[in-house]
Amino acid sequence: LSKNGHVPFVDLLAQYAAIGEELEENVVRVLRGGQYVAGPDVDALEAEFAEYCGVAHAVSVNSGTAALHVALLALGIGPGDEVITASHTFVATGEAIALTGATPVFVDIDPATYTIDPGLIEEAMTPRTKAIIPVHLYGQPAEMDSILTIARRHGLRVIEDACQAHGADYKGRRAGTMSDIACFSFYPSKNLGSAGEAGMAVTDSPELAEKMTMIREHGQSKRYHHDLLGLNYRMSVIQSAVLRVKLPHLDGWNEARRSHAAAYNRLLADADLTLPYERPDVRHVYHLYVVRCRDRDALAERLAERKIATGIHYPVPIHLQPPYRRFGGGPESLPHTEAAASTILSLPMYAELSESQLERVAEAVREAVGERAAAR
Ligand SMILES: Cc1ncc(COP(=O)(O)O)c(C=O)c1O
Repeated sequence: LSKNGHVPFVDLLAQYAAIGEELEENVVRVLRGGQYVAGPDVDALEAEFAEYCGVAHAVSVNSGTAALHVALLALGIGPGDEVITASHTFVATGEAIALTGATPVFVDIDPATYTIDPGLIEEAMTPRTKAIIPVHLYGQPAEMDSILTIARRHGLRVIEDACQAHGADYKGRRAGTMSDIACFSFYPSKNLGSAGEAGMAVTDSPELAEKMTMIREHGQSKRYHHDLLGLNYRMSVIQSAVLRVKLPHLDGWNEARRSHAAAYNRLLADADLTLPYERPDVRHVYHLYVVRCRDRDALAERLAERKIATGIHYPVPIHLQPPYRRFGGGPESLPHTEAAASTILSLPMYAELSESQLERVAEAVREAVGERAAAR
């Protein structure tokens, strides 16, 4: 247990304690080398991450949001186009679409997996629909076969938002390998996290890789020749050095997360709440371990009293956030999304969680939901 029995929601210092020396060596090497933007470290990370995913190309950028933005821009998506995605996701998914000038069209989720319900995609399509962005939320891949069948039938592009699913599998296929472009975030608390902001867009297409490489660097084909409209989305070399140290640990960390999820499932089997559903044909990597219960706020409060931190991912769906209301929808338009937002709670989840921390969280959850049931 950490100091005074507190169980944090994530514990970045626990990870740092395990690999700090190697991280420091690599970061200092970069500082002493004087190459802080682009160069061999970033190139090596791109090659290593592409190999890890099993794709031909990886284009490094400075956030997951930037990865989504360059992916959409490289596919030529912009004003007049519509892109179908989920509203039950981090805002960046909808934000990247809206920033291209295209219209995000939000579709409801499957309430069991919290990922986009493929059965609702075709009815959301119009002649303007250009792409679908399934989100592999919480570390569980979306129902890709149905999504890809629909995309093929209608000639749509697919971008995986794999920002929470580094190393997850769907029917033996790696998250990030099933679509035109897949986007990853290396926000510090992600399964693979930088020491700041970073992201990656991966693809098998050399043309798309080249376009994204140009767009992330002011659209330039060579220095000061700007053939495309671009941005400055380059990854910092220090972040690439951090990520290169961490990448070899990712599979082990994911295994630890999966085993913690199995422990929670076992310890909470009889508790009065809904546990995460893992599809039998996926390898869920538990970026988040999300339960559902009727009185979510009371449960969060009871856990806070016992010094157990929790989170809500996410309390307000995108379609109900002010800048997105103009895209239609509105309250009660996405019932499963809205029901999830008011009942979900994320329990502490990170690779370094100890058995006693897991037991402590589970015991507190059991006590909280148990008492509530008895009081009814
Ligand atoms: C599903 C999802 N999409 C996009 C992002 C955006 O990534 P970033 O924070 O690196 O910009 C995140 C993470 O924050 C995410 O969880």
